[in-house]
Order: sequence, then structure tokens, then C-alpha cells
Amino acid sequence: MFNNVLYVASLSSDMMVDMFRTADAMRDAATACRHRTADWKRLVPEGAVMATLFFEPSTRTRLSFESAMHRLGGNVISACGEDALSCAKGESLADTIQAVSNYADVLVVRSSQPTSEWFKGGDSHYCRSFVINAGDGENHHPTQALLDAYTIWRHNGCTGKAIPAGRTFGIVGDLDKSRTIRSFVEMFKREQSNQFILYDSTGRQAKFRAGTRYDDIWHVSSLEEFEAQMPKMDYLYLNRVQKERHASSTALDSTFVLTEKHLGSLKSRCLILNPGPRRDELPAHLDNWGAVRMWEQVENGLYVRMALLRKILG
Ligand code: NCD
Repeated sequence: MFNNVLYVASLSSDMMVDMFRTADAMRDAATACRHRTADWKRLVPEGAVMATLFFEPSTRTRLSFESAMHRLGGNVISACGEDALSCAKGESLADTIQAVSNYADVLVVRSSQPTSEWFKGGDSHYCRSFVINAGDGENHHPTQALLDAYTIWRHNGCTGKAIPAGRTFGIVGDLDKSRTIRSFVEMFKREQSNQFILYDSTGRQAKFRAGTRYDDIWHVSSLEEFEAQMPKMDYLYLNRVQKERHASSTALDSTFVLTEKHLGSLKSRCLILNPGPRRDELPAHLDNWGAVRMWEQVENGLYVRMALLRKILG
């Protein structure tokens, strides 16, 4: 039985394997829909409505959710930016969500506020419909971690558990501000034998101290140290510096830029993931290296979100 999807902990490993298998089936359903073949059929109840409420910019997340709902044969209503809603008249985000939940069966919400906290414990105080957190400030982005895990699961032959064990994950990005890194680490930390090597690409490592979010896992303090660890990595996850979340964004270019030399030092089966949008950390001319799976992640986002909506509404 599905509930709100607010953080990675909302998704059990069993649910995930089930969803990954459904996502594989959705790959075919999406193709049938695209080509309007006779195989296409509605996969959510007639009249089902999904609302997307996005108060922060988005390309992949919002449009893949909307495309997913259309391809399943459902309906979509959408509002983007506070200016488009009564928030512009001073209404609180909580009231807006509560109002829209009367008009949709599932709400997909992205906000700079910690929305995941409001719905904790299945509390329906704010909302009459299912809620999917599509990114809340620096906090969580569970469906990105879900599609990252699906991409890895497919790479591992679509068998076994949702989360591989005994692997080494290199992670580069804005450790303090990136919700995708946080959700990714939460997802793969479920297997205790997995190891993480974190490098903060804002150049602000010195700020790490007790009480920060990755207290208990290893972050290296220099790029050289990180590069020395690259031959051990099974997965390398790159995310841009989250400039919009820093008071002064001018001096915040990524101190890590992937090069051919790095690619040469990684294991031959190492996968390089990036939730997008990419910036300087992943130069476009490296997209054709087999290890770089960013565009596969973009595509997989559609199938995973079709699977998720089908499970919730179907
Ligand atoms: C991410 C986000 O919004 O947190 N984008 C996405 O949803 N794919 C990552 C980012 O913006 O860096």
C-alpha cells in the first residue's frame, strides 16, 4: 500500500524492486503510447488527476511527471512559480497545497521550503491527496534517488535487490546544499557494506564540522585525495554547485571538472551519474563515454515516474 513519497525512507526495498519491474514494463507502454499503437491502454483510472505545484525551477522532474501521467492516460493540472498562484496574494504554501489537494488525486510538489516535514507520518492535515516530494529546498528528492537506483539496478542486470551491497560510491558536489546527494546517500547507505567517499566541490570543505549532514561518512578534504581514491569506485555521482542556495554565488564554480584522465583511472565498469542539470563538473564532450549515464537517467526518470504513479493510482 503506497503512502506519501516524502523521502527515501518512504520507499521500502521490496516496493522498489516491484517498481523497477513495473518501470521496465512502462518502457514498452511509453513506446506504444508514443506511436499510438493498438497496444496502448489506460493504466490509471479514468478521470485520475495529478497536480504539479512547482515553486522552484525544473525541467526533468516536472515534465517527466507530467509526461508520465499523460502516457498513463491520466490528466494533469499544473501551476509553476508563486506568481501564478494565490501565494502572490500572501497565501501560505500550506494553504495552497491544501486547496489544490481538493482538485487532484496526487500532488507533486517542489518547493524551497521543507515540505517533507509537513506531511510526516501520513498526516493529512494539509492535504486530501497523495503527495510526492519533487524536491524540497536542501532537504530531500526521493524520486531522483529512485531513478538513480533504477539506473544502477538495470546496469546490474535487473536482478536481485534494489540496492547493491559492498560497493564504493564516489560523490562530488555541494554536500551541504544538494538534496539529490543527500537522498542518494540515504538510499545506498541502506546496505551497510557500501562505502562512500565524498568531496565537496564548492571548495568549502573547511566548514565541515560535527553536526553537518555527512558526519558519519568519509569526506576527503582535497581534490588530490579524491582523485587518488577514484580507482576504487564502482559509481561516481556528480552534482553541480547549488549556486542559488548560497548568499554569494560569484566565487562558486565547481572545483571538480571530470576529465579524460579521470575516466582512465576509473574501473572499466564504473558508472558516472549526474541528476542534471549539469554544469562545469561534467563537460558535454564526455557524454559519449560509455561510463557516463546522465542521459539514461533522464530517460529512466520517465519510466520510474510512470511506475510510481501507476502504483499510487492504479
Ligand atoms: C536536481 C534538483 O532539483 O535538486 N535536479 C533534478 O531534479 N534533476 C539537481 C540540481 O538541481 O542540481
